[in-house]
Amino acid sequence: MAKKSAIPQIPRHVAIIMDGNGRWAHQHHLPRLSGHEAGRKSVKEVAQAAIHHGVRYLTLYAFSVENWQRPRDEVQGLMSLLRGVIREELNEMGREGIRLRTIGRRQDLPDVVREELEAAIEKTKGNTKLDLILALSYGSRVEITEAIQSIANEVKAGRLDPEQIKEETVTAHLYTRDIPDPDLLIRTSGEMRISNFMLWQISYAEIYVTPVLWPDFGKEEFAKALADYAGRDRRFGGI
Ligand code: FPP
Repeated sequence: MAKKSAIPQIPRHVAIIMDGNGRWAHQHHLPRLSGHEAGRKSVKEVAQAAIHHGVRYLTLYAFSVENWQRPRDEVQGLMSLLRGVIREELNEMGREGIRLRTIGRRQDLPDVVREELEAAIEKTKGNTKLDLILALSYGSRVEITEAIQSIANEVKAGRLDPEQIKEETVTAHLYTRDIPDPDLLIRTSGEMRISNFMLWQISYAEIYVTPVLWPDFGKEEFAKALADYAGRDRRFGGI
């Protein structure tokens, strides 16, 4: 009989690159923004499924630093969609025990979105069922660069000896400083890319890529990803 791993079968932290909204819209002869609107349903369904399965942290790549280069209409549409979701789902998040958090350059977001977001973060901070972490204006290289700047400033101020810089020092300067690394990384729509997402944190994550487009990714697809994860043999470089 195969040796049973001591690693829990349910990932504590699932991170998702939600991709394929544009293609979904194209397939349905709809404008791109309708694809993002359809993707909103998947966000809700997957957050509920995460709670149902006992996943404790769910990180969603909602808007990258590179996404600012998209056409102005699409960026504005995504920002107002985000604002609407926060406003309309806040009470539900409370009922479900969801704590809303973000990683990324929150300062880049339009004031109205940032304020709405910060109010929701404050309001949900006592919830303990699921940390729903939205990666917004997020880029992993920017995150690491900012961490290096901050470490360099500590060295310059004489608070840190360069010899003492360890992996934990870097980890402690990332946006995710108090969030465990993802155990499972899901990417929808079949692309085999990481797209500048949590490069440091996914070092030992299991990767699951599905051809399903994000608006079609619901609780069944999420359960399939978890089942696949449960069958993996995580060795973390050991044997
Ligand atoms: C990638 O699809 C998706 C995005 C850039 C945005 C994700 C946003 C949502 C799912 C909307 C709601 C989310 C929240 C958290 C409120 P794409 O446009 O790159 O798709 P394509 O590669 O097929 O063009």
